[in-house]
Amino acid sequence: MDHIEHALSTGQARAHGFEDITFVHQSLPNLSTSQIDLRTTLGELSLSSPIFINAMTGGGGKATLKINEALAIVAKECGIAMAVGSQMAAIKDSRERPSFEIVRKVNPNGVIFANLGSEATVEEAKQAIDMIEANGLQIHLNVIQELVMPEGDRDFTNALKRIEQIVQQVEVPVIVKEVGFGMSKETALKLANIGVKIVDVGGFGGTNFARIENERRLRMLTYFNDWGLTTTASIVEVSQTVPLSVIGSGGLQNALDIAKALALGASAVGFAGYFLKLLLEEGIESLIEEIGNLHSDLAMIMSALGAKTIEQLQCVPLVIRGETHHWLTERGFD
Ligand code: FNR
Repeated sequence: MDHIEHALSTGQARAHGFEDITFVHQSLPNLSTSQIDLRTTLGELSLSSPIFINAMTGGGGKATLKINEALAIVAKECGIAMAVGSQMAAIKDSRERPSFEIVRKVNPNGVIFANLGSEATVEEAKQAIDMIEANGLQIHLNVIQELVMPEGDRDFTNALKRIEQIVQQVEVPVIVKEVGFGMSKETALKLANIGVKIVDVGGFGGTNFARIENERRLRMLTYFNDWGLTTTASIVEVSQTVPLSVIGSGGLQNALDIAKALALGASAVGFAGYFLKLLLEEGIESLIEEIGNLHSDLAMIMSALGAKTIEQLQCVPLVIRGETHHWLTERGFD
């Protein structure tokens, strides 16, 4: 509940780099809006929309159960996938399970992702998947958050080894995700080398867990407040380095952000803080309406660009300026 409260009050920074990306206008797109197809794939998963609700909550009793129930209703109504928050609390204490199980109860046929940290064992990963009959498992990497968290982990050894064992031994696709600090090409290469097929860049520029955790400590570690790779830089770093399915996330708030993330190389986009804020401040109906608008606005933008499918959108010409251009040039991308 602390995280939710601070996530809402520290707000969305919008420092993700999307302002550096401009589409090149096309005067002869040669298609009709009715031809736009929003279906996409992530590894072996097929999704009817590139938009999904990213991992947020679970555990912590009635309040989080209500939030997960509401998010599951939204996911079902809008036909989008959804991830639950970290299930470790429910693996350690079965009284925490209902706030996760509700998601599958509400949405029996939906695409739902389980979620654990990289400290998880193969056995815990299997339990998390079984708990919600998950279609995929997210493993989050959150070193900076742990360091800033007063009660956080300090030992980050052997995470890659544990992820490799999980990838080899669970029966659903594994998505390795960041939580708002972005993902570098070096990290993506390590993950690709152990057989990971899907990564979520979780870029800097939206929800900021260094700031959130700093709010919870007396002596703030402010040097981590601006730490990380922006969402735009991360999507390019990862998608141009390894042949993985990339999820673009971190600070997305509108259809133009979505279109830009996909055009930079992502196959799907995750929304966390922005959807949570809308849900808690304006209610379920507003969030459902907003996701409907995101779908229709994305179709409008794709029509303007002459991109019938997400795959075609990934190939449209665009111009990269400013900080993002500087970063990518320094990092060896032309
Ligand atoms: C999160 N996030 C998160 N991620 C994860 O893998 N497991 C988790 O348990 C949580 N918990 C969580 C709680 C709250 C309140 C928020 C807002 C976020 C991180 C989330 O999935 C996402 O990676 C980041 O929030 C960045 O995306 P946005 O918020 O900028 O769209």
